[in-house]
Amino acid sequence: MKLCIIGTGYIGLVGATVFSDWGNEVIGVDVDKKKIERIQAGDMPIYEPGLSELVLKNVENKHLRFTTDLEDGVRNSEIIFICVGTPQDHDGSANLSYVYAAAKEIATHINDYKVIVVKSTVPVGTNEQVKRIISENIKKGIEFDVVSNPEFLREGSSVEDMMNTDRTVLGSDSKRALEKMKALYQHLNSPIVECDLRSAELIKYASNSFLATKITFINEISQLCEKTGADVSMVAKGMGLDKRIGPRFLNAGLGYGGSCFPKDVSALYKTSMDYGYHFKILDSVISANEAQKNAYIYKIVHMYGENLTGKTFACLGLSFKDNTDDVRESVAIKVIRALRGMGAKINAYDPKALETGKKELGDSSIEYFTSPYKAVMGVDAICILTEWQEFGSLDLDMVRKSVRWPVIFDGRNKVDSFEALKNGFAYYGIGRKSTSDTTPGVQ
Ligand code: UGA
Repeated sequence: MKLCIIGTGYIGLVGATVFSDWGNEVIGVDVDKKKIERIQAGDMPIYEPGLSELVLKNVENKHLRFTTDLEDGVRNSEIIFICVGTPQDHDGSANLSYVYAAAKEIATHINDYKVIVVKSTVPVGTNEQVKRIISENIKKGIEFDVVSNPEFLREGSSVEDMMNTDRTVLGSDSKRALEKMKALYQHLNSPIVECDLRSAELIKYASNSFLATKITFINEISQLCEKTGADVSMVAKGMGLDKRIGPRFLNAGLGYGGSCFPKDVSALYKTSMDYGYHFKILDSVISANEAQKNAYIYKIVHMYGENLTGKTFACLGLSFKDNTDDVRESVAIKVIRALRGMGAKINAYDPKALETGKKELGDSSIEYFTSPYKAVMGVDAICILTEWQEFGSLDLDMVRKSVRWPVIFDGRNKVDSFEALKNGFAYYGIGRKSTSDTTPGVQ
């Protein structure tokens, strides 16, 4: 099939690439000339495991090409995907200006029947607006249909997720468009949910908000574990074995971040309010997520006081989660800002997000390191802020010999607390017992 993907961000670039790998002829379009030139040169604008190899392969076999020319993309495709960003507006709602601008421009170039698919995460009613905008701007007599096809990819595993999706959601009132879309996804073995436009839109927000709620629930349990002496990892294990609950997204930590959960939970809350319904759980999720991060910072303040001048912290992790260089709405970045705000010096390390993190945080009171072992030299404490796998296998004996004070604030429960104790560290995890009461300076 001939496809056009508008927007080469996380969703668009991965979508275009995987669709082309399935044998379709795909044109990726973006207004950002520099970005298109980078991709064409094989230099990916984002870090996503497996992506660059797949782009190169499919560009080489001519299944995939990139352009800034939207007309070229629209005219030479049967299905056009809108994958542009829907950033959060100041009132918590999703900013739809890029989606609507794309719809208007697509309409002016349509020359025969096309299916226009909205993949961007958009609130209830947006696809109907897209339909209206296209009808108002298309040449008379030319037919089109709109399909809502939200994506469920996680950054860091999005190529894998798209190839092995749990389900495909197709919202439309057109049988013709649905048949075309089903043909596109035919070789996936997962169920297809066919529904109306509004239900499809809501499925996406409900799914992200439910997952954010699940994380927040275990985070609140972690607070209770700290008070009662229970261990949140054990509680999560015991809960997760119940098939009705499931083990995934039960990792307690610093609270959810990223470009999706915070924005989508707020947008769903705002939509509910707009429709006159107070979505009580989401209200609590938003404030409990903020409190989770603050509780972690409080542990540090409890030990060192509010004036951190003269103290250096090794902050391991900058990205909002592992396997990505994305630092948007990263809790790690927020914690670093808070520590720096109290006068601390930061030694920062991240396996992939050093460049993006530096862009966000700048140079003031921060030094960036390309190895965790260099970042921990002479520090007063180690803060583990992102769930990168490698933080679970640090050589603690070696680390112990480098630090000034052997203290670990493990915001992601990556380190084995008994190993930490064995190696002479005071260890403070999330929802688990601290393994020492060592106070820096009073060893
Ligand atoms: C999320 C959803 O998981 C995807 O299904 C969805 O397609 C995507 O948003 C989107 O709307 O585009 P993503 O934000 O990439 O994906 O990453 P997640 O793996 O969901 O992690 C989100 C945040 O939750 C991260 O900050 C992560 O550290 C945190 N998290 C995740 C936890 O604190 N505990 C967990 O158990 C899982």
